[in-house]
Amino acid sequence: KQARIDRLKANIPTVPDFPKPGILFWDIMPIMQNPEVFSDSVALLEEHVKESGIKVDVVVGLEARGFLFGPLLALRLNCAFVPVRKAGKLPGETVKCSYTLEYGKDTVEVQKNSIKPNQNVLIVDDLIATGGTMASACQLMESMQANIVECLAVVELDDLKGRDKIKYPVHSLIHC
Ligand code: PRP
Ligand code: MG
Repeated sequence: KQARIDRLKANIPTVPDFPKPGILFWDIMPIMQNPEVFSDSVALLEEHVKESGIKVDVVVGLEARGFLFGPLLALRLNCAFVPVRKAGKLPGETVKCSYTLEYGKDTVEVQKNSIKPNQNVLIVDDLIATGGTMASACQLMESMQANIVECLAVVELDDLKGRDKIKYPVHSLIHC
């Protein structure tokens, strides 16, 4: 398993000073250039969920890069996928939440009836940095009375202590 995680990490190069000076950007896109690595990344997420015995009703993915992993994981878990989008993209009644992230400010939104009260939701994103994005998604899910079973990421930047902002179990495949 460690070898698989190491191979995954080897496919996430860092880019200094992107998108702003002083930010070290972890670029997950090269994972998808290799179908074996991409497939294995989703398999590792799936194995984690299955091994931990968590029952999941809905995988919630965070725009945009959470959409690269969330729907694939949802299919493997045979459950629903619901997107959390940046404001203004979803039709009908929505629930919103504003937050500050590593480099900017944003509002996220979800369709109002996409998740029923007490459903078990697993929130998936590519990366946890300051934790602002994940924390905002948790707040959104709380306002929908969802039961957050876990916050799951491919990469977590440990030094930024993002998990301290998150009141729920956090798991990441790779710690940097
Ligand atoms: C990046 C990344 C996470 C978030 C992590 O998304 O995909 O969602 O930042 O940072 P945080 O823990 O400090 O909140 P970004 O908002 O850059 O946009 P994208 O996913 O649409 O590319
Ligand atoms: Mg993102």
